[in-house]
Amino acid sequence: MDELMKNLSETAEYIKSKVGEEKIEIGLVLGSGLGDLADEIENAVVIDYHDIPHFPVSTVPGHKGRLVIGNLEGRRVLCMQGRFHYYEGWTMQQCVYPIRTMKALGINSLLLTNAAGCVNMDWQPGDLMIINDHIKLIQDNPLRGMNPDALGPRFFDMCTAYDPDLIEVAKKASATTGVDTREGVYMLFTGPSFETKAEVRFARISGADAVGMSTVPEAITASHMKMHTLGISCLTNMAAGILDQPLNHEEVIETGNKVKAKFTKLIREIVKTWPKSKTE
Ligand code: HPA
Repeated sequence: MDELMKNLSETAEYIKSKVGEEKIEIGLVLGSGLGDLADEIENAVVIDYHDIPHFPVSTVPGHKGRLVIGNLEGRRVLCMQGRFHYYEGWTMQQCVYPIRTMKALGINSLLLTNAAGCVNMDWQPGDLMIINDHIKLIQDNPLRGMNPDALGPRFFDMCTAYDPDLIEVAKKASATTGVDTREGVYMLFTGPSFETKAEVRFARISGADAVGMSTVPEAITASHMKMHTLGISCLTNMAAGILDQPLNHEEVIETGNKVKAKFTKLIREIVKTWPKSKTE
């Protein structure tokens, strides 16, 4: 544990040496096909994951693998362009290292985005879903093992892991911008194989609206550290078995590209109206 804290401190110090001490208000994680928003960040300092001490390095095509720190809608943000997935072989602890780094930098607000498969039959590819809860069936958990007491308690509540106030902020942003959103439950699968048809039926019966391969470990870790988290899924495809066609990663990226404009509009408004009190 001491090693984790020492590493986090070294990572944070390195990042501060590049961007200074000014308070960063919101951490932003951009999902598959949604990374271009980082290019709109003003006065950006870009740091490759390769160069950051103790950081894993992303291997997924379509993920750039860098931090972009700067201003968006007048707010100071740190954006992850590319994240670490369990299916890449990282441990859950490695997957969430950047989230812990955010906290080490004094960031208390987190906006997680992802590409996900749509399980809800009433919705469509291209829809944006505000995550109001998640289901993690797999047994692993980023907090498994010795608890890093300096970061948070051994046992902790998950009822507000997706901050209800921030869900309201997102809904308001949706109304203001005219970008429609859904609200629902995200279910984690490990990937990298897409789900089977039976798994998708199971997800639906279990109460899931979307399935995906990320976000949940990050949301758990953020909750452990009492960060205020909002999650937005871009439903890039109908999940397996709903349509009579095979799934592929290209479709995920393609839909991400198609929704880029409305996704960007929504996220910008959310960032703009993110309550100051949640960042302190
Ligand atoms: N399943 C899991 N993850 C995904 C999907 C999917 O259908 N689409 C985009 N990410």
